[in-house]
Amino acid sequence: MPGDEPIRLLVDCDPGIDDAIMLLLLAHHHRRGDLVLDAVTAVAGNVPLDKTTRNARFVLDRAGLVDVPVYSGAAQPLARRHTEQAVAFHGPDGLGGLYGPDHGGIDGGDAAVEIVRRARAGVDGRRPWLLATGALTNVAIALALEPALADLLEGVVVMGGAFGAPGGNWRPWAEYNFYFDPEAARRVCESTLPISIVPLDVTERVVITEADAEAIDRRQGPSQLAADLLTQSIENHRRQMHLDGCLMHDPLAAAALVDESILRWVPRVVDVCTEGELAGHSFARTAHHADRGRRESHVALYVDVDRARATILNALGGD
Ligand code: RIB
Ligand code: CA
Repeated sequence: MPGDEPIRLLVDCDPGIDDAIMLLLLAHHHRRGDLVLDAVTAVAGNVPLDKTTRNARFVLDRAGLVDVPVYSGAAQPLARRHTEQAVAFHGPDGLGGLYGPDHGGIDGGDAAVEIVRRARAGVDGRRPWLLATGALTNVAIALALEPALADLLEGVVVMGGAFGAPGGNWRPWAEYNFYFDPEAARRVCESTLPISIVPLDVTERVVITEADAEAIDRRQGPSQLAADLLTQSIENHRRQMHLDGCLMHDPLAAAALVDESILRWVPRVVDVCTEGELAGHSFARTAHHADRGRRESHVALYVDVDRARATILNALGGD
């Protein structure tokens, strides 16, 4: 995980409410100088690409990060044609009905090329981090464009997969991001990228409640949007999962970049099924000689729930 210097960060996401809350958390730490959010790329997932892209722009503008560029990416998975979207959790606009049209434009339409360009260029002589919280389609395409991508990135944090009891959230056996593009998830997990995976095993333990949302100081723009997004998400989780709160999948992955003590990692070889009914299923195992030196991923299997909740809520509560 990062050292003392503010990390330079590229984010690939599919806003969606929890991606949006993640962007607000990152914006808070960007403004404080704990990290530099250099660019955001969008991928189809929770809602179609045109909406994930404009939602990323809308949220960054609301957070005051009007100069952080947004690039659009893959509209479909590598090898499938999806019609499924997570509208039940994110609403038709992807932001629980909170999207507003008054925002800036986007900066380009080839996310994978932009990821490779920025990785090759580096920033002030340093390698950027990549945080991916949607389907891994853009990341897989970037890998195909630049096979040496692993040497050009400081690290890659992926929100996705499920390895223990949760099994899955979009199918009983598959987590949404890996289910949406299993071929991309497999290519990324089998690559040489230095990946840290934040699976449902830890994200489903971090719940934000109505009381948390009500305690957020709504006097500032970003906090107002954060509180409204949380309220919408709680309503959707209550209806879909009978949960008394909402799950912070993507914000937890971002929080781990801000505070290394939130998650604890174990080295695992991660496989993703791409065939038949179980497509999107992910499993983590210890390395085997038959793996012939395949790179292990870091998989987070422990979370300090109190610390995670505090980090997320402090960031959303405003400066
Ligand atoms: O399974 C949860 C993940 O899928 C989150 O990233 C959510 O935003 C969706 O993309
Ligand atoms: Ca997401």
